[in-house]
Amino acid sequence: MKLFLDTAELDEVKTGVEWGVIDGVTTNPTLIAKAGQDHETQVKKICGLIGNVSAECVSEKRDDMIVEGRRIAAWHKNVIVKVPLTPDGLGAAKILAGEGIRINVTLCFSVNQALLAAAVGAYIVSPFAGRLDDINEDGMRCVADIVSAYRQQEIKTKVLAASIRNPMHVTQAALAGADIGTMPFAVLKMLFNHPLTEAGQKKFLEDYRKTQEPKPAASPTVKPVTHG
Ligand code: E4P
Repeated sequence: MKLFLDTAELDEVKTGVEWGVIDGVTTNPTLIAKAGQDHETQVKKICGLIGNVSAECVSEKRDDMIVEGRRIAAWHKNVIVKVPLTPDGLGAAKILAGEGIRINVTLCFSVNQALLAAAVGAYIVSPFAGRLDDINEDGMRCVADIVSAYRQQEIKTKVLAASIRNPMHVTQAALAGADIGTMPFAVLKMLFNHPLTEAGQKKFLEDYRKTQEPKPAASPTVKPVTHG
């Protein structure tokens, strides 16, 4: 499973890239608003750091979304155009995907919706696990069911587990067979944590430092004095 960051913060993307563990970024209008920057400028900056950057359309009507999707796709070759799972969104996705634009269908909450996304040729479908958990439904079950339905139907659309809220979600998404998991920076950072890694590294460094301490000087050898 590829790991993506769900953020529009440049510092977080830079750090993820430096760690060498991320393969893409998902943004949405809420995350862009939080970063406090103009949409186009921010997405272009993120695209300068990493490939596979989802940028979301905000038009509501199909024809407007087609125009907007083309405009967003032209910002950078790394852009994946995000459209909502609505009749207008999917209608636009069908045209844009037909033009070779990579589409991420967002706000997916069921297997049937994922089938609709696949039908229009989406490159990615994004089931939102955490938001299903929020309404007392099993978000990761939904991700697993979409993966299973896609495998049975030999559908090539990638399943991106979204709305990930904690490290357990990441493990569950990977075990469910999701192609991608997108997560906030705080969750990515937590994936490194294990008490045995921390304790083991501390001990290795302590033992290494001991080998670097200066050795006590050897006492000079005194030759025995011989008489006679
Ligand atoms: C994914 O593309 C979305 O931006 C994101 O995962 C939504 O997560 P949230 O439910 O925590 O806002």
